[in-house]
Amino acid sequence: MAAKLRARGLEPEPLVRRGADLGIVVPLRRELPSIAFAKTIWDASEPVFLPGIVRDRLAAHDAAILESLAMFERMRHGGEFLDEMEARMGDDAEFAYAGSSGESDDARDIEAVFFRAEQGTFAGEQDLWARLSWIANDETDASLRIRHSSGDGAPDGWLRATDRTCRAVDALAQRAFPECAVVDGCAELRAMLDTLICAPWRMSERILYNNAPGGGAVFHHDAEPGQLGVCFTQLEGRTAWLTISKRRLARLLVRDGLAKDERRAIQRLDRDDDRPLWTRLNRDAEFAQTLAAHGAVYVLEAGDSILLPSQAFDDCAWHSVVALGERPSLAHSYGLFPAEAAPVAKVRRSR
Ligand SMILES: [Fe+2]
Repeated sequence: MAAKLRARGLEPEPLVRRGADLGIVVPLRRELPSIAFAKTIWDASEPVFLPGIVRDRLAAHDAAILESLAMFERMRHGGEFLDEMEARMGDDAEFAYAGSSGESDDARDIEAVFFRAEQGTFAGEQDLWARLSWIANDETDASLRIRHSSGDGAPDGWLRATDRTCRAVDALAQRAFPECAVVDGCAELRAMLDTLICAPWRMSERILYNNAPGGGAVFHHDAEPGQLGVCFTQLEGRTAWLTISKRRLARLLVRDGLAKDERRAIQRLDRDDDRPLWTRLNRDAEFAQTLAAHGAVYVLEAGDSILLPSQAFDDCAWHSVVALGERPSLAHSYGLFPAEAAPVAKVRRSR
């Protein structure tokens, strides 16, 4: 199969995650959708693939991207996250170091570094943090991630955060990792999101992903309370995405004989102890092929973004990620949230 594809000038790549052989993936170039078409896809709770949308912005931030890749490599080989954050934030005029902690209920977590805003726009905000974690509890997967959030360190602390606190965390991430500007400054992406969301929005709960060969994330959703979706942008390297709306995924499971109807398939997806279903979704090359046949497999290269809408618990894009290539890559994933509108200056009318 792979030889036949190569003979046609295509470049198949093995799709392997934590020992599960999911077959091969063939990168297909797709067109950037018009905003109107993207809106149709988004409203159907399907993933919106935006090939090349930030590509022109990468070169200007090349140094920051390479520095983040080098940072992850140092930490994978014993370097301290605290030292890395100190080097990035030690001289910051606004955010001050407020402690660090290696304690967590999640065995994947390595260390959290806390900050408080001492002056500037967000003065007074505290318990702002960046946390380094392994992506999986699996020695064969060396993927790392850094999540930015707020609160006392509890995983759901951010759900209680105010708009101002969330914006403070966003500013902290922007300060520590200047390559955030690739995404934040992309006018085309912002215009797209304005149309898709139709209300003020912000990109928060920012996560840097350093997906290592053989690694990635199993199928899940991000339909958290108040969250409108996710914007994931590949800054270096490549990742393969298996992603599809929950309802369409449920219908594929019905076709597969795993449930009698869509409602029952959704009930199976909602359970977190359904091992046969989990195995079918995450470790089965035949099912990966079914997804590919239904247009639900994408290859993200540097400069590509993908948007994952989550209008409701059953109306959202489920997704799964597989690292591609020979070395760890860099991507930024931001949650999309409703934002308080920026204050509008009042203009007194003269009569
Ligand atoms: Fe996700």
